[in-house]
Amino acid sequence: KYKVILDLDTGIDDAMALAYSLTLPNCDLIGVLSSYGNVVSDLSANNSLKLLDLLHHPEVPVYKGAEHALNQPNFTVLPVSAHIHGTNGVGEVTLPETDRTVAATSAVDFIIAAAHQYQDRLIVIPTGPLTNLAQAFQKDPQISHLIGKVVFMGGALTVPGNVSPAAEANIAQDPEAANIVLRGGFNITMVGLDVTLRTVLTKKETAHWRSLGTTAGQLYADIVDYYIDVYGETSPHLHGCALHDPLAVGIAADPSLAQTIALDMKVDLTDAFRGRTIGNEERLKEPTTTAVCVNVDVDRFTTTFMAHMNELLQESG
Ligand code: BDR
Ligand code: CA
Repeated sequence: KYKVILDLDTGIDDAMALAYSLTLPNCDLIGVLSSYGNVVSDLSANNSLKLLDLLHHPEVPVYKGAEHALNQPNFTVLPVSAHIHGTNGVGEVTLPETDRTVAATSAVDFIIAAAHQYQDRLIVIPTGPLTNLAQAFQKDPQISHLIGKVVFMGGALTVPGNVSPAAEANIAQDPEAANIVLRGGFNITMVGLDVTLRTVLTKKETAHWRSLGTTAGQLYADIVDYYIDVYGETSPHLHGCALHDPLAVGIAADPSLAQTIALDMKVDLTDAFRGRTIGNEERLKEPTTTAVCVNVDVDRFTTTFMAHMNELLQESG
């Protein structure tokens, strides 16, 4: 089995990614890291702890991660993030309290220790800014060759960004960190807006979760309906919400879901295109360990995602 670390800025699609990762037969979730982004890092950690309890997986530790971008000492949640995910990150839904707290080890030290312990069996899945992984790499550059693979949600190669014409949200939060990670020599797969905007969840599916009659089904339906309502305002053509973060988990567990191109990547740090993920022209002739998803088997992913979520939300009571 793969050992999996999720690195979440626990908003709504992160919450779905967390649940989905618990259902994968070939993956063992060994830790969840917190990041800032959709919410502040402390709230991300707290949301993850509560969701893991709700889903009957209190054995999974949560590690506190970065509170802000590498080059920006302060972070405040963007109004647009608070609007999309709710001010509490989970669609203003009140989750049952938890008595658990974050682990004593930091997210950065946990990544480094896990990289040495599990090596090519380790998959790291960031679905928020890439700050934690960049800091771990800066502290111990060996990890880029030790970790089996990194599969991150972020960036856009063939489509525009979602916070600016150039940048996708997770990269825009910390372009320097994303650039460090993309140039760090990791075996890395980019699951960007190119593919995530094609995988959509509708209220038909959340209605099914609600009909299961379980607390977890009811709460996940309420949380995700909030997200679907926001998408209804901003992207009515989708008729649902994008499964950004769950798709990264799906492709990590089953790479055959995506069609990728091998392309060394970097992040544009110039003012005009800040946060844009783009091919690294200096390395186009060299072998690369970077893959960029350009197509996805939408039906197979959404069918599998729904089947696994239904089972989990049913069993979680
Ligand atoms: C990404 O930004 C965040 O708001 C979502 O959770 C997702 O990770 C989409 O651009
Ligand atoms: Ca996210």
